[in-house]
Amino acid sequence: MNSLEQLVTDAQADFLAAADAAALENAKAKYLGKTGQITELMKGMGKLPPEEKRAQGALINAAKVQIENALGARREAQAEAQMQARLNFEAIDVTLPGRGRGKGGIHPVMRTWERVEEIFRSIGFDVADGPEIETDWYCFTALNSPENHPARSMQDTFYIDGKDSDGKPLLLRTHTSPMQVRYARMHQPPIKVIAPGRTYRVDSDATHSPMFHQVEGLWIAEDISFADLKGIYLNFVKTFFETDDLQIRFRPSYFPFTEPSAEIDIAFGSGPLKGRWLEVSGAGQVHPTVVRNYGLDPEKYVGFAFGSGLERLTMLRYGINDLRLFYEGDLRFLKQFN
Ligand code: PHE
Repeated sequence: MNSLEQLVTDAQADFLAAADAAALENAKAKYLGKTGQITELMKGMGKLPPEEKRAQGALINAAKVQIENALGARREAQAEAQMQARLNFEAIDVTLPGRGRGKGGIHPVMRTWERVEEIFRSIGFDVADGPEIETDWYCFTALNSPENHPARSMQDTFYIDGKDSDGKPLLLRTHTSPMQVRYARMHQPPIKVIAPGRTYRVDSDATHSPMFHQVEGLWIAEDISFADLKGIYLNFVKTFFETDDLQIRFRPSYFPFTEPSAEIDIAFGSGPLKGRWLEVSGAGQVHPTVVRNYGLDPEKYVGFAFGSGLERLTMLRYGINDLRLFYEGDLRFLKQFN
């Protein structure tokens, strides 16, 4: 093998050995660069006598072409390998099983909420929504619980730092009853509305959670009576609990915003709770002072209201005995309702 052939073989081997594009460029410089071996040979030709120049020039050129071809081939091979590696890396194996998203489920208390809305909508009630951060006026004063009135201590309250336009501290609403006032001030009677939502009290045990849910009901018209309230509530519990075998009673009670006031109890005629009176709601005829705060004339309009706990209804429907289970987030508990 003459030295030119050797040079070509060396170049081919060097190019093949170059692991990446940078290494290949270095190898190229060694042969074809400014001080590369081929370049040096070309420069050296000047010293040759003219008759040798031609033959030698042709030989060097042929070697140069071979080296350039080897370089080009290696460049292509490297690009191809790089593309292949990238394709492999980014490949999606469509035969692998999917990751799945898991199936969510509706919380039992939300299920009750939806049912309550559905039942009351079906008998012509509107559904209203209002703020959980309430003013003192809507939560208490408008509902006939003036400041320093002992009835206020019926509800232990979360106050927050902000103040309302009366300079009174804002609070997390302790019941949905402020929605009676908000809704009645924005609508003309006759009014039939429920307002389900979150409520808050400083209270925590097996039957109380600091955050809980109520549904407020309000019916205002000129010619309704307690019998109408009793009728719609009986229809509600029968539909909600999916049984006609159920009794209802109104037990005298006290709320500042209703007069007379009652607790509504129900008793199932069968099942594990058979025959026991169970409290499900506060209720009453809206106090004339509150009707006035609605912006209505209590001589003309009569209002009936109720406020029921959604957790309580849910516990009775499913036979749950500890309210805290609703908010512990234990999937073993929650999954049973889906
Ligand atoms: N707001 C009362 C409570 O939270 C319930 C209630 C509502 C009572 C409407 C009478 C009328 O205890």
